[in-house]
Amino acid sequence: MNDAPAPTSLERAEKLQGMGCKRKRVEDVRFTQGRGNYVDDIKLPGMLHGDFHRSSHAHARIVKIDTSKAKAVPGVVAVLTAEDLKGVNLAWMPTLAGDVQMVLADGKVLFQNQEIAFVVAADRYIAADAADLVEVQYEALPVVVNPFKAMDEGAPIRREDIKDKKDGAHGPRNHPNHIFNWQVGDKELTDAAFVKAEVKTKDLLSYQRVHPCPLETCQCVVSFNKITGDLTIYGTFQAPHVIRTVVALIASLPEQKIHVISPDIGGGFGNKVGAYPGYICAAVASIVTGVPVKWVEDRIENLSTTSFARDYHMTTEIAATRDGRVTGLRVHILADHGAFDACADPSKWPAGFANIITGSYDFPVAHLSVDGVYTNKAPGGVAYRCSFRVTEVAYAIERAMDIMAQKLGLDPVDFRVKNFIKREQFPYNSALGWEYDSGDYHTAMQKALDATDYRKLREEQKAKQEAFKRGETRELMGIGVAFFTEIVGAGPSKNCDILGIAMFDSCEIRIHPTGKGIARMGTKSQGQGHETTWAQIIATEIGIPADDIMVEEGNTDTAPYGLGTYGSRSTPVAGAAIAMAARKVKAKAQMIAAYMLEVHEGDLEWDVDRFSVKGNPGAFRTMSQIAWAAYNKIPPGMEPGLEAVSYYDPPNMTYPFGAYICVMDIDVDTGVHKVRRFYALDDCGTRINPMIIEGQVHGGCTEGYAIAMGQEIVYDEDGNVKGASFMDYFLPTAVETPHWETDYTVTPSPHHPIGAKGVGESPNVGSVPCFANAVNDAFKFAGSKHIPMPHDAYRIWQAAEDLGLHA
Ligand code: CDP
Repeated sequence: MNDAPAPTSLERAEKLQGMGCKRKRVEDVRFTQGRGNYVDDIKLPGMLHGDFHRSSHAHARIVKIDTSKAKAVPGVVAVLTAEDLKGVNLAWMPTLAGDVQMVLADGKVLFQNQEIAFVVAADRYIAADAADLVEVQYEALPVVVNPFKAMDEGAPIRREDIKDKKDGAHGPRNHPNHIFNWQVGDKELTDAAFVKAEVKTKDLLSYQRVHPCPLETCQCVVSFNKITGDLTIYGTFQAPHVIRTVVALIASLPEQKIHVISPDIGGGFGNKVGAYPGYICAAVASIVTGVPVKWVEDRIENLSTTSFARDYHMTTEIAATRDGRVTGLRVHILADHGAFDACADPSKWPAGFANIITGSYDFPVAHLSVDGVYTNKAPGGVAYRCSFRVTEVAYAIERAMDIMAQKLGLDPVDFRVKNFIKREQFPYNSALGWEYDSGDYHTAMQKALDATDYRKLREEQKAKQEAFKRGETRELMGIGVAFFTEIVGAGPSKNCDILGIAMFDSCEIRIHPTGKGIARMGTKSQGQGHETTWAQIIATEIGIPADDIMVEEGNTDTAPYGLGTYGSRSTPVAGAAIAMAARKVKAKAQMIAAYMLEVHEGDLEWDVDRFSVKGNPGAFRTMSQIAWAAYNKIPPGMEPGLEAVSYYDPPNMTYPFGAYICVMDIDVDTGVHKVRRFYALDDCGTRINPMIIEGQVHGGCTEGYAIAMGQEIVYDEDGNVKGASFMDYFLPTAVETPHWETDYTVTPSPHHPIGAKGVGESPNVGSVPCFANAVNDAFKFAGSKHIPMPHDAYRIWQAAEDLGLHA
């Protein structure tokens, strides 16, 4: 006889490994053993390989393309140019931003490395060698890479195809190189606030062009079956269903015949949201040849042609009272979108959610105006580990708040705290139109100050500055502070769609007779650990151990339609769909349990993994028992089985926030810095898996560090892209990466079924201004106002030189 006491509710709950548990990542079993299945691992019988011949010019008319030498290379099957694509109406393709984009250069090239010809060959090396043999005769045209010169009178016209169009997808255009002007907020009231302001600041805060660095580049394998008409596309897609719909629309193929599969993805960071010429060319090549075609981008192609990020130039003005209260915010952004407007934003938002620029502060009035312009640079404009354009504006507001604090002679923390939105003001309606769901900024900031002993750091800094002035040290100390508010969870159908499809997300749960199950979502993990965390939500909701739930994403034939994973939308949207689908399963389970226990449903209560009769806990049925019964002992009239699907349209976005503090030492004579401490406090509401959250913060801070301290895609005046390889583009290794201290507060979202907000993007949003503020803070004592990013050693040295700090 077993005398062991029955496990308590707490013990049973722990066994489930549900929400709040630091469950180990189940996907890592295959990843750490080299057993992931990435696109380049897919090898289909008879598969051919494609590679591009790309433009050496940034702006030129194409006089002639000669493919004869390439075609003559043994092993080359086809060489496609725009003329071939015109035959199938695919020389141009629509972009997510309502523009059109050349698939292969049609008459002219608009940026360096633009795709001109696609060579299809027996192997990758033959394709690459033959691509080099394509001969293009150019007639060079004047180049513009500086967005400030894009709309000059007489500036060379980039987009001759739309030069006479007075309107674009987002309203009137007032120059052939203009894309849109987008305004939000009350201009009159804001201007009036500036007229009355006691103190004002106005600064151009530029966020340089950067590019996400996923380990795996963009790639696909396309296989067309000429007999059945099925088109199967394996690809590095963050949003597989959207890709399926886009292919159906632009290729006029029936959507049910298109099968999009995203296998394992080695990092996305926004880079894998859009549709690229490589996908279209591989599809056309497979349809033409009748065999599978693979296209794998190399690193230089990735860094120089697929979607860039940022390139935002933000003139930011703050109005304030002398005693440090903000009274107005006025911002103009010049957005460089490159050759085509291929931004990956929800359709109605030409500058993403840039109107979150009021940040964590209670601005009574604000006005934002954004102008998008065409230049001779690669197209794109993706949310590089941020919600659409949020990291750009978080940088602007956090730098601007520091600059105003300096002008007022206030500590940057005190100035922020004085202007924070207060806990009791939530839900808070911002001057630029968002309704912040929940927040407790004062508590978070106080925790950060206590954890870092902030006031003491300031004393130490002052002492160091004195020592520097006396010539006793050549080192300066900077303390960076950033307090960000994110907007994630795109999004409510009232706000967001992509090509007209509302940005809901979905989950289907099937519980098998043995009490194990499978859950499928419209999201797609690229390293975020969804297989681990989604099962945890289900475990808590329906009492089946997370280990007994298999999570599957990324196959459009099996997953319910979803809008994918980017902009930290997975937890706010799909996470909610998962909880709602689980609740439908649970509701049916309750009816079955009531039937089994011969009581009314209302007489049952839920206890971790079972329904028990109220007041009689010994009378119960576990979820596992109910699952078995669902397939053989159901109440009369009920359908057998235990499964549910939920399509969740969130009522609002979620607004995670965080307090970041960085302590940095800078050698004035070399410009070399050392991050002494970096403290990151994140509030993402209910925490599903604290270990995964910590990992997300480590990764995001590392990317933020890279961006703030070195990353930049640079162009010379002729439009030559410089620094598009890891020889020049800063990717920190373990040696450079600072140590991250993480912390948290929990302020649940009131409208999310489990109270969770997104977190994946937050550390990039918060850390970039924090590093930038640390560098700037080090030089404030010498009268410096703003040192632009990126803060590599040379630029820091130059700033010190300009301030006369060198002997
Ligand atoms: O959309 P994406 O997956 O990039 O971002 P996310 O929704 O912020 O989620 C990133 C990872 O953090 C996922 O594995 C989430 O389940 C996890 N997470 C969590 O454990 N708790 C939260 N409150 C938010 C995210």
